[in-house]
Amino acid sequence: MSKLFGVSRKKSYQAKETRYEKMNYRRCGKSGLLLPEISLGLWHNFGFTDDFKNAQNLLKCAFDNGITHFDLANNYGPPYGAAESTFGAIFKKDFKSYRDELIISTKAGWDMWPGPYGNFGSRKYLISSLDQSLQRMGLDYVDIFYHHRPDPETPMEETMAALDHIVRQGKALYVGISQYSAEETLKATKILTALGTPCLIHQPKYNMMDRWVENGLLDVLENKGVGAIAFSPLQQGILTDKYLAGFPEDSRAVKDGRYLKTSQIDNELISKVTQLNEIAKSRGQSLAQMAIAWLLKDQRVTSVLVGASKTEQLLDSLKALDNLEFSEEILVKIDNVLK
Ligand SMILES: NC(=O)c1ccc[n+]([C@@H]2O[C@H](COP(=O)([O-])OP(=O)(O)OC[C@H]3O[C@@H](n4cnc5c(N)ncnc54)[C@H](OP(=O)(O)O)[C@@H]3O)[C@@H](O)[C@H]2O)c1
Repeated sequence: MSKLFGVSRKKSYQAKETRYEKMNYRRCGKSGLLLPEISLGLWHNFGFTDDFKNAQNLLKCAFDNGITHFDLANNYGPPYGAAESTFGAIFKKDFKSYRDELIISTKAGWDMWPGPYGNFGSRKYLISSLDQSLQRMGLDYVDIFYHHRPDPETPMEETMAALDHIVRQGKALYVGISQYSAEETLKATKILTALGTPCLIHQPKYNMMDRWVENGLLDVLENKGVGAIAFSPLQQGILTDKYLAGFPEDSRAVKDGRYLKTSQIDNELISKVTQLNEIAKSRGQSLAQMAIAWLLKDQRVTSVLVGASKTEQLLDSLKALDNLEFSEEILVKIDNVLK
């Protein structure tokens, strides 16, 4: 507590001075923007049903350790919009003075509000959704605005022109796409380049168990100078040791069950995770650390976008950066487990 004019007031958050000492920053494609090797996503644990103090501690812990990038979307919650509101409240209280040290992203593309204008990829949806997001977060602009998924029924020219417009309005500094296939990405980057707003980044799902991006997308991104940020690097928690001895009450599979169900985690899967856990131990890492390091061994991956329900998890995951080297032998061992 400090005293100002005789009134006791709680000291506002001061970020650790050492915050830039350990984190590495990678260039996002051929842009001027550097992103931390580990970024934090707010998909889970920032809804109105979650603990506010825990959410606040997660953001502070991340920033104190050099994580300068927080990733959101219009419909993260629950309910939809809640993660942006929670972030906005924490931003106002703790991070306002650090705005220029932060890269904040949000997205639109999935269902957000009822009726024909709250989903997919129309200009109408993207522009109004970002206006709502900025209000919820109390921001003048986001650093990156994404189209969250391809929309086969809206002309891609319309969606990309909306992204270009948003940058010209000053409501986003850069734009990105998520979940676009290699072919769709190629088309989108060509349209955006022609409009004068290059595509900064692609956000695909990528982890040891889900490698679809290796089938063309990473090559397109490299050729076009677009960065890559891998989401669900821990396969929502499966690529950790947490389910090896059963289903913890506070785990995503038990507590939430919307996107990760206990029925998905069967004996066959656990047998694979057990073997991966042994390989991680032989490297002196936790499985979460090895899963993150495995992604960062590829320089085309700009950043690994983790989630965390506790600060201890985040601190564990950050230690991945201590060892990003893989021998050919270990890579083959991992592939053999996951075959
Ligand atoms: N573009 C898209 O379509 C899209 C889709 C999904 C996600 N995303 C983005 O990607 C971000 C990350 O996704 P995700 O949350 O699925 O990522 P993830 O890193 O694969 O999973 C995070 C979960 O794993 C567990 N965990 C994390 N670190 C751990 C550790 N060190 N040890 C043990 N368990 C650990 C926690 O689960 P428990 O809750 O069980 O503790 C945590 O909530 C999202 O927040 C979002 O920003 C984007």
